[in-house]
Amino acid sequence: MTSSSRPVPRRGRSTGASGPEPADAFFRHIVAGMRNGVLAITRAGAVALLNEEGYRIFGVEPSADDLGKPVAEVLRAHPDVVRQLLSAFELHLLPNRAETRLRPSGKVIGYTLAFVRDDAGEVAGVAMFFKDLTRVEQLEERERLRDRLAAVGEMAAAIAHEVKNPLAGIEVMAGLLRRIAEAKMANAIVQEVLEFVRPIRLQVEHTGIAEALHAAVQLADTKVARGSIGVAVDVPPDLPQIQADPHQLTQLFTNLLINAYEAMDGKGRVEITVTAMRQDDGGEGREAVRIELMDTGPGMPQEVAERVFDPFFTTKAQGSGLGLAIVRKIVDAHDGQIDLRTAPGGGTLIRVTLPVLVSRDAV
Ligand SMILES: Nc1ncnc2c1ncn2[C@@H]1O[C@H](COP(=O)(O)OP(=O)(O)OP(=O)(O)O)[C@@H](O)[C@H]1O
Ligand SMILES: [Mg+2]
Repeated sequence: MTSSSRPVPRRGRSTGASGPEPADAFFRHIVAGMRNGVLAITRAGAVALLNEEGYRIFGVEPSADDLGKPVAEVLRAHPDVVRQLLSAFELHLLPNRAETRLRPSGKVIGYTLAFVRDDAGEVAGVAMFFKDLTRVEQLEERERLRDRLAAVGEMAAAIAHEVKNPLAGIEVMAGLLRRIAEAKMANAIVQEVLEFVRPIRLQVEHTGIAEALHAAVQLADTKVARGSIGVAVDVPPDLPQIQADPHQLTQLFTNLLINAYEAMDGKGRVEITVTAMRQDDGGEGREAVRIELMDTGPGMPQEVAERVFDPFFTTKAQGSGLGLAIVRKIVDAHDGQIDLRTAPGGGTLIRVTLPVLVSRDAV
């Protein structure tokens, strides 16, 4: 047992007859022997645990005094990981099965973040479970993903063939409004599926958030009836332009607005607030802009909130469930973050954080 695999100290409660000692050793062995990397930090940003596989994946030499040191110091070669960890304390929905590329090794890791809570249920730290996807796993994962995407792609192509081609004919000939509406809807779903499966290639340029937001407000109006819902957009005049794909950003905001309108059923308010901020990565940090979109709709129960970014998850009779999956894909492509805060009856707040300078890898 090395000091590198000491778990977060447990408080209070012992485990009864066997006593805390043997149980502690047992848990330490579980973590040490795990074939996943495990890294835990305290609220203060100190390393509470990093197991051997974790050191190996990060390519960091273990040192006996790593525990208790700032994570930014131990993982100074990986500011992106540090930023993900430190910003997790602000999130409500933590990333699950996300992927990130470690620079400079180019290794791809798949990871999940979870809060470490103390006995009172307060967040005491954040744990990251990760796996090196670069080698066999990567091939397998990629293979599986490709299969899945191919299946969806084929399905989309088949539907496109069935639905899209006859569309022109139907519109002209049938002359039945109801029919047209149905066909159009089917067509819209096909478009969305295709959008989702298509890999994103960012066309990065200097992009004004205000312009993208205003374009989105207009575009959303062409897609759903807003009724008397008011939209307020508040962008500070000195907000920096960001390196982003303006069309993708417009699409991202449009999908969020459409969801808000659909949730509110003709009445209420959407408030969009944008701020410039700096994201902590333990080093110089990273300039970012934060876009918050708040609606006064019915909100969602927790079980819905946890699934909204899953492809094809929808609670709407006519929904395809791809709106937010596409949103997440666009945010990921820009190396940004998305978080959601909601409660039944309490409205929904969606927060998107995008870096001012896009990373080299994304272009
Ligand atoms: N602002 C919101 N308020 C309440 N619920 C929301 C909001 N945004 C999303 N949701 C919930 O999340 C689900 C998934 O949203 P998503 O945009 O991915 O798909 P959809 O809107 O159902 O279908 P699509 O966008 O493909 O037409 C919605 O069905 C709805 O239950
Ligand atoms: Mg939607």
